[in-house]
Amino acid sequence: MQESRTTLADEVERGLGAAPDSQTLPCRFFYDEVGTLLFEEICELDEYYPTRSELQIIDNHADEMVRHASTVIELGSGSARKARILVDAALRGHETVDYLPVDISRKALELCRPLCDEFDRVTVTAIHGEYGPGLDTVREVTQEARSVFWLGGSIGNMDRRMAANFLSSVAGEFNDRDRLFVGIDLRKDQETLHRAYNDRSGVTAAFNLNLLSRINRELGGSFDLDQFRHVAVYDDDIGRIEMYLESTADQTVDLETPPRTFRFAAGQRICTEYSYKYSLREIETLAANASLEIGRRWFDNERRFTIHEFQRPQPERCVESRNAG
Ligand code: AVJ
Repeated sequence: MQESRTTLADEVERGLGAAPDSQTLPCRFFYDEVGTLLFEEICELDEYYPTRSELQIIDNHADEMVRHASTVIELGSGSARKARILVDAALRGHETVDYLPVDISRKALELCRPLCDEFDRVTVTAIHGEYGPGLDTVREVTQEARSVFWLGGSIGNMDRRMAANFLSSVAGEFNDRDRLFVGIDLRKDQETLHRAYNDRSGVTAAFNLNLLSRINRELGGSFDLDQFRHVAVYDDDIGRIEMYLESTADQTVDLETPPRTFRFAAGQRICTEYSYKYSLREIETLAANASLEIGRRWFDNERRFTIHEFQRPQPERCVESRNAG
């Protein structure tokens, strides 16, 4: 997998220096301290169903997910609440538990820290970094069996091909008993999706616009946040949410480091995030492209979200595990 280790400055130069109709900023830069807290706020919104749907699944099935493994690795540790449920469940099945959250956000890792205090049978090893270090972790932690969680629908930020490649690179580190649990947001009616990314209280807008504040803070940018607006649209054919920051005026924005000036016409959009949604068929294609088998799979009551179990091909168990769950 190609791991981007470029800095915000590099990405701003490249992404905003592009032609006016193809400007981009990578969504991983959302998660500075302010952005991480705004994302936690998004997860509490009435309109933003994925977190609640996934929590419902985890609440109901965490025991089944961690029964076989005392090592729990979480890629993108996300909400500490999910971590608590998983660790708690693992402790019901094992004397001691190793929990290894991997996250690009130091703030997110910090939110996981209380886990250490609450259970003396848990060893928490927080790993700060992108998915590359996450893979290293999977490689290095050589317990008998591991459960790797990639939750929250983060897979949606990759296009379908990249997602398959990533799953296959994680599972490339697996032995036959390891399992990968992936939280995937499902395709659904446009209204529900539109509302989830256009909440009435404007938290998602603030989250998106924080990218510009971050550029102002870290690179001495002169973005006027009143001159950009949050746009989120759902493309039902592709099955993805597209988020943009749209300039509401003809304007120029200066940067101190590196010294640059960018022009924006009114209506010009910077693409900040894609969030792909999956049908069950698309998940089957994903597994096939990753050369993985789907094991068990779980849904919330409204079938808005799913957690799928992926594993290396295990011919003799194939039929049995396909019918479970
Ligand atoms: C963290 C990538 C799963 O795509 O729903 C939430 C990020 N962006 N609201 C998503 C997000 C706007 C979220 N993921």
